Amino acid sequence: MGLVLGVRSTTSAPAQHALFSHTCDIICTKGLAEMAMVEHSMMLVMDDRLQWAQTLPASWYFDEALLQHETQKLFHRTWQLVAKTSDVPVPGSFFTTELVGEPLLITRDSAGGLHGFYNVCRHRAGPVAVGCGTRKALQCAYHGWIYGLDGHLMSAREMDGTENFDHADFGLVPVQIAQWGPLIFVNLDRQAPPFEQVFGAVMTEVQEQGFDLSRMATVERRDYDIACNWKVYVDNYLEGYHIPIVHPGLFQELDYDQYEVVTYAQYSKQFAPVRPTTAQSAADRRYGRYVDDGQADADAQALYYWIFPNLMLNIYPDNISTNVILPRGVGRTLTIFEWFANPEASAEDMKQTIDFSEEIQQEDIFICEAVQKGLASQSYDRGRYSAKRENGVHHFHMLLAKALR
Ligand code: FES
Ligand SMILES: [Fe+2]
Repeated sequence: MGLVLGVRSTTSAPAQHALFSHTCDIICTKGLAEMAMVEHSMMLVMDDRLQWAQTLPASWYFDEALLQHETQKLFHRTWQLVAKTSDVPVPGSFFTTELVGEPLLITRDSAGGLHGFYNVCRHRAGPVAVGCGTRKALQCAYHGWIYGLDGHLMSAREMDGTENFDHADFGLVPVQIAQWGPLIFVNLDRQAPPFEQVFGAVMTEVQEQGFDLSRMATVERRDYDIACNWKVYVDNYLEGYHIPIVHPGLFQELDYDQYEVVTYAQYSKQFAPVRPTTAQSAADRRYGRYVDDGQADADAQALYYWIFPNLMLNIYPDNISTNVILPRGVGRTLTIFEWFANPEASAEDMKQTIDFSEEIQQEDIFICEAVQKGLASQSYDRGRYSAKRENGVHHFHMLLAKALR
């Protein structure tokens, strides 16, 4: 494997691809998918010095075995935003969803407590709940076993002749659950650090800046199915380098020279100041309303967070939006955009916010889909980072390489 690494870094790009295929053939004939995964983490040589580092190998953006590895190591081990409080508004509410292939069930018990479970019956894996609604108990759609909203097995039809069967052993399998304002997160890894440990710094910072998530209510959700690997989309979010070229409208709004990305252990923050404007032109500018007569109001500055590996939080004084980035295959990504607003946010302001976001998203989709095709080209393997502008992308790739090891 060390030899493969050396060859990959010294041959021309098309030859590298041929060699890589050859490497995969050898692994496949051994029939060990797990070995292919190990191979991937071993093959990635990431320089932790941004100025010297190469970008991720192109193969990382379209390899099935790697996606399986990412699913296990990232999506099924980190805190994932899967629902909102309005999905389970009252005692007795339930809500079903899926997290990268795992069926999930969120419930609110009669005392108002939130629970998260795999939506998988302990009998023969039927769906314990379908869709969403309100119930006193949940009946599996296959043979009708009944579970309480706290997950315990209440009754199992016609199991009285079955030996050594104790209802207490067949409760729903729980997942970790946490709530932040209107957002509900789960973590499938029972050993994972608590939510507060991972999100605590972001939560504190958001609160200190005066943003109050608990007052925000759902406004709208938009799903986008994009023909690229999920990492292409995340890479793109993590740098402002492309803004002057890809987003001319946004470029006009931002003070690009001051745009910066600050990285932390498990998240990064983008600082994107709006250009100072005059009161007259403010009306024509999306973010003009956050600027007071040409003086940027520090208290009203927007915050853009990315939390490893796939969550973006865009926080404004009167609204927040979340972007959840989920793989649907190596070359397909679902991005879920949701907007939440303060009760006093005006409908017109929210419409402007969403329209502007839509314009930027369409520009990003265009470039991400083109990049996915470029990554698959035999002419390309690895590139270089702009040391000035792409520290956030490099930070992501370093975290990724570490998590997949
Ligand atoms: S699978 Fe649920 S009752 Fe049979
Ligand atoms: Fe963009």
